[in-house]
Amino acid sequence: MTLFLFLVIILCVACCNIGASSKTLLDEQYHSTVSNNIILHQVDNDFDCVDIYKQPALQHPLLKNHKIQLYPTFVKNIVRIRQSYRKTVNECPTGKVPIYKRTRKHQIVTNSSNLQIEDFRHYSQSSPGYHTVTLDTTQNMTFHGAYAFIGVYNLSLQQNQYSASSIWVESGPEIQRNSIRVGAEVHPSLYGDSQLRITGYWTVDGQKNNGCYNYDCSGFVQVNQMKNCTLGVPIDIKTGIGSTKKEFMGFRIQQDRSTGNWWLSFVPEPVFIIGYWPKQLFTHLSTGASLIRFGGQTYAPPNMDSPPMGSGRLPKEKYKNSGFMGSLQIIDSDYNQNDVKPKDMKRYSDTDSNCYDLWYHGDEGPFWRQAFLYGGPGGKCSI
Ligand SMILES: *[C@@H]1O[C@H](CO)[C@@H](O)[C@H](O)[C@H]1NC(C)=O
Ligand SMILES: *[C@@H]1O[C@H](CO)[C@@H](O)[C@H](O)[C@H]1NC(C)=O
Ligand SMILES: *[C@@H]1O[C@H](CO)[C@@H](O)[C@H](O)[C@H]1NC(C)=O
Ligand SMILES: *[C@@H]1O[C@H](CO)[C@@H](O)[C@H](O)[C@H]1NC(C)=O
Repeated sequence: MTLFLFLVIILCVACCNIGASSKTLLDEQYHSTVSNNIILHQVDNDFDCVDIYKQPALQHPLLKNHKIQLYPTFVKNIVRIRQSYRKTVNECPTGKVPIYKRTRKHQIVTNSSNLQIEDFRHYSQSSPGYHTVTLDTTQNMTFHGAYAFIGVYNLSLQQNQYSASSIWVESGPEIQRNSIRVGAEVHPSLYGDSQLRITGYWTVDGQKNNGCYNYDCSGFVQVNQMKNCTLGVPIDIKTGIGSTKKEFMGFRIQQDRSTGNWWLSFVPEPVFIIGYWPKQLFTHLSTGASLIRFGGQTYAPPNMDSPPMGSGRLPKEKYKNSGFMGSLQIIDSDYNQNDVKPKDMKRYSDTDSNCYDLWYHGDEGPFWRQAFLYGGPGGKCSI
């Protein structure tokens, strides 16, 4: 691990030097850490160890006869994965998987189904309160996954707001929109605190009736036994805006070629396989995605200002301060993982650029490759 981080830093210095002379977005000498090892280790009390065959996912009516897939078929070296599951205090006993415990606040909000209602309106563009700024694929093709490093920052949010930095895989017409969203999110009404946490969300009907966060309702099948390799874990951020060291979390969502299940992993090395959304949950995503999106989304109730997105600073503040996503890749119709291409991507924003913005120039050198700056302070954002 140490050797890896060292390599990352060397690579970044090399890349930043190139950046300085070639007018990319990375015009400053900042060291970066891309790590899948920045998740809080003191998480024992927040998780229950549940029998893998009795986990919430399997209560879903469509998963009655679901046979749990313990490893994705696209992972060639199972032995190496097993080693990363080595025994630690953070591990559930054999045959059990960690499931995030609901906080009291969390239950109050979800029982009144506020979360479902607030989320449903995101796809009708006129709905107040939601803002989305993303880089989207434009090709008419089938995707089987996406990959990105997401810069992570603490943000200060109020109750009932949320701010997510995510990868989306989507398919289907608007009212039957199948969508999986995965990344880092501050969501006080969901978690009962303002920490940045690994968050997964899925829906099959444009967020109308079916869909939910993490393990809130049945859907996501957890296979990793480590308590820090689950949805809901807080990300332990050591650096802040303007710091010379930047921290990133890497995510990959990938459809399994033989089972059709959508797997979530933390990347780069060592890859941690977390679990999957079973193919059976979906109507359109079961055969692949038609759209991949990278970027941020916020919500605030209509009478409240919009919360910060990304780092809370605009792209014009450059890599030093702005939110950032890099190593953007898609998994294509032949299940090959490739960098996104600038000609195939378009910027989407539903608000003014003083609120949130996204700058994408394409290639940012050998380390970050395809990358963009995004986010902003929020406030009174126009629709
Ligand atoms: C989880 O914790 C274990 C042991 O404490 C550590 O080796 C591993 O890197 C951590 N994984 C993540 C994703 O934080
Ligand atoms: C949610 O919980 C509150 C307080 O426990 C209760 O008054 C309310 O009726 C519940 N709402 C639903 C939809 O169950
Ligand atoms: C997308 O591709 C399919 C199959 O090649 C074709 O039938 C369809 O018309 C195309 N759609 C658009 C919007 O180009
Ligand atoms: C981010 O927030 C966490 C949790 O409140 C805290 O432990 C950590 O020190 C904060 N990091 C920074 C850089 O402020």
